[in-house]
Amino acid sequence: MDSKIIRQTEKFVQSKLQGESSGHDWWHVYRVWKNSVYIAEEENADLLVTQLAALLHDIADWKFHGGNENIGLHVAREWLEKLNVEKDIISHIIEIIKDISFKGAGVKTPMKTIEGMIVQDADRLDAIGAIGIGRAFAYGGYKGREMYNPDIKPVMHESFKQYKNNKGPTINHFYEKLLLLKDLMNTETAREIAENRHKFMEQFLDRFLEEWEEHDNIEK
Ligand code: ADP
Ligand code: NI
Repeated sequence: MDSKIIRQTEKFVQSKLQGESSGHDWWHVYRVWKNSVYIAEEENADLLVTQLAALLHDIADWKFHGGNENIGLHVAREWLEKLNVEKDIISHIIEIIKDISFKGAGVKTPMKTIEGMIVQDADRLDAIGAIGIGRAFAYGGYKGREMYNPDIKPVMHESFKQYKNNKGPTINHFYEKLLLLKDLMNTETAREIAENRHKFMEQFLDRFLEEWEEHDNIEK
């Protein structure tokens, strides 16, 4: 029964997010889903709640709906009700989707249950490492942002509004969010994966800035 609900939800989300090009495409959800299962098995969490929350976590992200966060919650709830998922389980999943996002360096987004912690970890793992780097530049391109600008320094956003309205170059996003994620992991399993991905981002940034400086050193 559970596996049928999960399969139907997989198809539903896939049809909604297919072709999304801003970093919330189906394959992002797919990776978050698979990583969530891996972590949930290691941490002995509920697999139905974890998987449904992972699959539905980005169903209608606020960034793409004029700031209205509630649309995603509404779509997810309606879908789960249609599948006759138990009321308590629906509430739990909706709570996770509501709490999950990174909202700026100074804004705490604590998760209340192990299943929530796992989906948040899996979502954050997908924002770091080689895939995270790819996603950041894809998002920056989608928003028409500069890749790097040595005159614009990163800032630590202390409010959700500040974070959301930030239009800085993509490299700044590493300092404003991506390099902070390793220390925000909830579970030991995710922390271990994050360490490795974090190191790779540091190497990437060293190399990026090194190549950038090579241009500065060329005399005209
Ligand atoms: P999530 O799916 O983790 O909730 P977000 O909605 O915050 O992620 O962002 C989607 C993707 O776009 C992530 O990989 C994130 O790092 C990236 N991203 C978000 N904001 C920016 C930004 N200002 N510059 C570059 N990349 C960004
Ligand atoms: Ni996500």
